[in-house]
Amino acid sequence: MTSSSTASASGLPRLFSRSAPLPQWDAAAAQALLQARFGRLWQRQDLLQALIVIQHHFGAITAPAQTWLARHCQSNTADVRALIHFYHFLQEERSTPHQILFSSNIIEEQQGMRTLFDELRMGTHGLAEVGLTSCIGLSDQGPAALVNGHPLTRLSGQRIREIQRQLQQQIPLAQWPQNWFRVDDNIQTAGRLLQFQPDPALFLSQLLAQAPQQVIDRVQQSGLRGLGGAGFPTGRKWQACAEAPGADRYVICNADEGEPGTFKDRVLLQHNLDAVLCGMRMCGHAVSARHGILYLRGEYLFLFDAINTRLQQWREQQWLNADFNIEIQLGAGAYVCGEETALLESIEGRRGIPRIKPPFPVRNGLFQLPTVVNNVETFAAAAWLLQSGVDAFRAVGTEQSPGTRLHSVAGDCEKPGIYELPMGASVQDLLQACAARNPALVQLGGPSGVMSSPADWQQPLAFEGISPGGSVMVFDASRAHFNIARNFTAFFQQESCGFCTPCRAGTQVLLRDMDCAAQGQQHADLNALATLINSTSHCGLGQTAGRPVLHWLQMNAAKKTEVAHD
Ligand SMILES: Cc1cc2nc3c(=O)[nH]c(=O)nc-3n(C[C@H](O)[C@H](O)[C@H](O)COP(=O)(O)O)c2cc1C
Ligand code: SF4
Repeated sequence: MTSSSTASASGLPRLFSRSAPLPQWDAAAAQALLQARFGRLWQRQDLLQALIVIQHHFGAITAPAQTWLARHCQSNTADVRALIHFYHFLQEERSTPHQILFSSNIIEEQQGMRTLFDELRMGTHGLAEVGLTSCIGLSDQGPAALVNGHPLTRLSGQRIREIQRQLQQQIPLAQWPQNWFRVDDNIQTAGRLLQFQPDPALFLSQLLAQAPQQVIDRVQQSGLRGLGGAGFPTGRKWQACAEAPGADRYVICNADEGEPGTFKDRVLLQHNLDAVLCGMRMCGHAVSARHGILYLRGEYLFLFDAINTRLQQWREQQWLNADFNIEIQLGAGAYVCGEETALLESIEGRRGIPRIKPPFPVRNGLFQLPTVVNNVETFAAAAWLLQSGVDAFRAVGTEQSPGTRLHSVAGDCEKPGIYELPMGASVQDLLQACAARNPALVQLGGPSGVMSSPADWQQPLAFEGISPGGSVMVFDASRAHFNIARNFTAFFQQESCGFCTPCRAGTQVLLRDMDCAAQGQQHADLNALATLINSTSHCGLGQTAGRPVLHWLQMNAAKKTEVAHD
């Protein structure tokens, strides 16, 4: 057996260990790996998960692998190739055993990522494929990159030269210094959620003593709102799912966390995993679901083994059983799969193209069955409120946004990391806490969120104020707003799933014409184009893709007005 299929401490097969891929396709090895991954016969709906295992082990999904996989699940190679082309982390060919992908987040760009990227690319010709990928959720400890799917943090010129040496001397990836792969939690302010380490046995006895409707009532009374972005009332979602007709139901934890600059869910999964699992178990009880799925973004592959091991321990303790079980499904590098219906498509083994809504997942979700999709933090907060009670939950935060909020903070500040503050705290509170350096602009909620300037910083971060998007990017006065807007627009263009024209073609034209504008060349009316993309796109990605340009234009116009008035 290769190191990719050796057992971990828990006795579970280690499918994604740090090893260089085997270059040669080997059907028997693939068969063994997929048996280890699924523990059963696998079928078409498992195809994406199968491709991820094959990609990791062999470095690519070559033509013989495609034929073998298609035959195995009674599909065809066109179907297999459509998936490979959709997901950024899947590929048909690999020229070198090592692939290094730098995170192209604006924060890491501003920390010198491009120079490091160029240096590595020049010095490792033929030894490693070096490329770029969208934010990998490590902007608090960047510049960062993924080598064969594993994160390298705190990159510097010296580290790049050391990596070059490892590659030149053909030192196996498993023998690279362990501390290069260290991922810190960087918890700067731990409130009640980050301090919450429930005892699953006690939690379950408290949970199962209550009727499902009682649990839903508590969540409704608490006023808990979804922490994945939109702030939808969680109790209402669970109630709708419980009431929807269906022979079976699903609970899905959305751990796709693709919004650039956001890394709070990574920290919760590393630091408070039991709280998240308790929240999923609680939802399963409330809506009478038997199946839970934790959809883990491919960038967080390094968490797979720890989560899988903990799930196995939960099963051994009977905290997970035939009444309710949880499994992990991996993403493969596609931001759009964080959108709840694209996520369902991805779990069903297809390309992550968002569905038309309505119907909503609570009625027609996974495999058309009633499904709750909640964010990682929402599940952890739900578990906290069940254990501590509605009054305690509402004791902090605001009337319309009770509870606390985790903020991922990065950029021009002394103390990047995670800050848990009551809902309603202001941007100014956060800037003070993180020791921001001469802040001039603050992006809230990632590229799809809002760009704020000092005039907004006293307002409460709450669903009734400035939406508390979970990420805070701090930019000092030396940062050019154009570069920020361009980076965000390039992100949307890269991540557009291509389904609808305004988003697919519009983001390309927007990017091109921003460059023209910067060079003083003729260009389209950027305001009109960005507005058109936002108003005519099919899903939330396209509907926010024009925002960075609109913010940039608005702030430029405001500056010009100021100058004119001076
Ligand atoms: C393009 C796009 C990406 C998204 N990515 C995420 C994500 O990574 N994590 C998440 O929880 N929600 C994400 N969402 C929101 C989900 O569609 C959904 O509203 C959320 O998971 C519901 O959970 P909540 O009610 O707990 O907030 C995304 C939405 C869009 C449009
Ligand atoms: S808006 Fe963009 S991401 Fe969404 S469906 Fe259309 S092309 Fe795909």
